[in-house]
Amino acid sequence: MKLKPTRILLAAAVMMGIGGIAAAAGTEKFDPGKREFEATCATCHGKMGEGNGSYAFYLNSPVPNLTVLSRNNGGVFPYAYAYAIIDGRQLVKGHGQDMPIWGLRYTVEAAPSYDDYGHNSEVFVRSRILSLLDYLNRLQVK
Ligand code: HEC
Repeated sequence: MKLKPTRILLAAAVMMGIGGIAAAAGTEKFDPGKREFEATCATCHGKMGEGNGSYAFYLNSPVPNLTVLSRNNGGVFPYAYAYAIIDGRQLVKGHGQDMPIWGLRYTVEAAPSYDDYGHNSEVFVRSRILSLLDYLNRLQVK
């Protein structure tokens, strides 16, 4: 059977297209902070951290815009402050009533991940929060 040149071109174009998609998927950088933010924070803070998540409407407190943390802190990302807020376990009662206490949630999540052997859940909590801070820092407006 003789293939027409147009069919060969078409087949080549389809294969290149599939290859291109596969290549793009394979080269996408693993970004744990982004993944965590989009999975757990974006519902309230919005996908780009601007405080406009779909759940914000149901809360008593306004949801802050997380892209201006640096701008409101003299151009420096407030790591320690943001860490404490996200962790939430050290906050004074009455603060952060709508913002979930992620330090507790991550502690609970750590247990099944390391069920079979001794572990320090603080390492798990810390790595989650640090990856979030890394991502938040990249969302900052100038
Ligand atoms: C249920 C909604 C909700 C979710 C989910 C949520 N937050 Fe919040 N967040 C808030 C609210 C509301 C505030 C304002 C303080 C308060 O009332 O608790 C806040 C405050 C903050 C602040 C302090 C901002 C400032 O300007 O002082 C940071 C940082 C923050 N959140 C980060 C996160 C991160 C990171 C996540 C995901 C791990 C997250 N939040 C998930 C609702 C939420």
